[in-house]
Amino acid sequence: MRGGTTLAIIGCGQIGTSILEVLLTTLSQPCPNQQHNPLPILSMKLKPSRFIACVISQDSVSRLRTKFGHFARSSYPNVQISQGRVVEVVQQADIILLTLQASQGADLLSDPSLREHLAGKLLLSTCADLSVQQIEQLIYNDAIEEGGTVSERCFIVQAIPNTAAGVRQSATLISETVAGADTTLPPDFQSLTTWIFSSIGTVTYMPESLMNSASMISGLAPAFYTVALEGIAKEAIARGLSEPDALFLAAQALKGTAEMVLSKKEENKGLFALDEVRDQAIASSNGSGARGTLVLRQATVKDSFAEAMSQGMEKRDTEDCLLSVTWL
Ligand SMILES: NC(=O)c1ccc[n+]([C@@H]2O[C@H](COP(=O)([O-])OP(=O)(O)OC[C@H]3O[C@@H](n4cnc5c(N)ncnc54)[C@H](OP(=O)(O)O)[C@@H]3O)[C@@H](O)[C@H]2O)c1
Repeated sequence: MRGGTTLAIIGCGQIGTSILEVLLTTLSQPCPNQQHNPLPILSMKLKPSRFIACVISQDSVSRLRTKFGHFARSSYPNVQISQGRVVEVVQQADIILLTLQASQGADLLSDPSLREHLAGKLLLSTCADLSVQQIEQLIYNDAIEEGGTVSERCFIVQAIPNTAAGVRQSATLISETVAGADTTLPPDFQSLTTWIFSSIGTVTYMPESLMNSASMISGLAPAFYTVALEGIAKEAIARGLSEPDALFLAAQALKGTAEMVLSKKEENKGLFALDEVRDQAIASSNGSGARGTLVLRQATVKDSFAEAMSQGMEKRDTEDCLLSVTWL
């Protein structure tokens, strides 16, 4: 890989733009203060110096020009915007970040002219609905079915962010299973993968067999927490607090609780201590915390959350099943 790599973002919509924005901000700081730098250290040789953001519509081209146009004239980091021309873009890139919808990805990857330009490269996909094996099949199956051989494949890695990516608090999951060229990712590619996704939050590597269940936690939890926030704010609103004030306080308390839980994990060498956090909160609330917690226990709220997760996972399993049938 030559020094100063080229990263192509194929499908620079919500996720692609969030990642590109942080990477450009970090790279354009003359001497980033490591304390305020969200990204792990990466050698200069691997750091992208050039980005190609690829979209389809004129509206998206205009959006990207407004946001990143000034980087088109800078030599480092440099950004080019491409309307379509995916094969050409992939040919110029060292790393390809696929951040489009699964159906759009499926159409694009089955273009046989893409194959040779992907050889030996890192292909990162955020498509939750396309497994690495499905991506591999889309890229290479035609060639194999026609009796041809594929001299060098690309390394395909699946990374699943969640909706908090927009505020750089994604709990991104990355599959330990790599498809394509090899089943293990070369160390340089692994460092690049971690670096890229650290731009939008935390990165957790998972065995592929657990990716579905794990991604349901990070995917569904934000929706379910909003229900808890509504319930927590409701009584104070009924007693006269404005809705924005009540929701702000409830959301800030949720953020604070999450920080406490995470810091206890650090203190306890990887073990969470939810009871400790709860006891601390109850002790500081003069009895009303204990009373309220009892109400939640009697209403089996914990079981309701578990049931909500279970229903969500069941729906996902059914969809996966349907998806694999259509793939047969
Ligand atoms: N957003 C999330 O929080 C989230 C969380 C987890 C996983 N994901 C996954 O990440 C992927 C991207 O999500 P997103 O929300 O960022 O999607 P998005 O905002 O809809 O962005 C998709 C982008 O792909 C572009 N595109 C479509 N076809 C293309 C083609 N042939 N060549 C080049 N660009 C093309 C679109 O361009 P135009 O705008 O010009 O049409 C659009 O900008 C999805 O598979 C999603 O399941 C997203």
